[in-house]
Amino acid sequence: MSNPVPVVRTVEELRAQVAAWRAEGLRVGLVPTMGALHHGHLSLVDAIAEKADRIVVSIFVNPTQFGEGEDFDAYPRTEQEDRQKLGSTPASLVFAPNAAEMYRKGHASKVTVSGISDRLEGAERPGHFDGVATVVTKLLLQCLPDVAIFGEKDYQQLAVIRRFVADLDIPVEIMAGKLIREEDGLAASSRNAYLNSNERAIAGQFNKILKTLVQNAEGDIPLRDAEQRATNALLDAGFRAVDYVSIVDSNSLELLDKLDRPARVLAVARIGKVRLLDNMPVGAQ
Ligand code: PAF
Repeated sequence: MSNPVPVVRTVEELRAQVAAWRAEGLRVGLVPTMGALHHGHLSLVDAIAEKADRIVVSIFVNPTQFGEGEDFDAYPRTEQEDRQKLGSTPASLVFAPNAAEMYRKGHASKVTVSGISDRLEGAERPGHFDGVATVVTKLLLQCLPDVAIFGEKDYQQLAVIRRFVADLDIPVEIMAGKLIREEDGLAASSRNAYLNSNERAIAGQFNKILKTLVQNAEGDIPLRDAEQRATNALLDAGFRAVDYVSIVDSNSLELLDKLDRPARVLAVARIGKVRLLDNMPVGAQ
């Protein structure tokens, strides 16, 4: 078994290590995570290795992106196992600050990205993207990597991050990591661990129903009808509720009436207490 990847817990230690790598002329990559690492995260580490000589994986369960009644307390915290898993990847260092290090006494600032943050997940989880944008801005400024990677599984998060990195002239390349699926097509997620075996079987239908939606939308079925059919199919399959199934512009995430530009379906459905996210391209890209 490989050794766990070393960890630092303060911004000062992180910056000292990154400065030492820079002095050697090395390129630095950052993989921001909330831990509970699965093969989706590990694939991000492998992907960024093509563009970075040294890779920092941050592990921080960010309180400001969880709403009231969400799973902040229950969110799996498995740092030892995570560091062990990273031992067999090209990761060089884990940055795992505590909340007091990330949000120092008197912290009063936040990053808000209007428009793109307000729709879909933003409408379902008010304030969520402020929390994400603020912590990701801080992580980027703490580490100052050449490149950072975010998974396409959280497609809207990736779009929000691209927006503020461009708007705020943050000098970092943002890479998109491919959505990784389990054998039955369920998108890999730390929250899948909450599903019992019955719920897990239902969850496997999500991806199949979205594939049918894509076929319908690319056929002659109006987009709103295709979305409604998918919503009905999800409820029939045993999902408790469907927060949204929306065919949107791939960049602005505005709802589309026809597939006249690169489009994506973004969907969230609930089983028990778990919200499952999925997305896939629709039409010509
Ligand atoms: O996708 C996640 O795990 C989180 O939203 C992120 C980007 C690490 C910010 O806390």
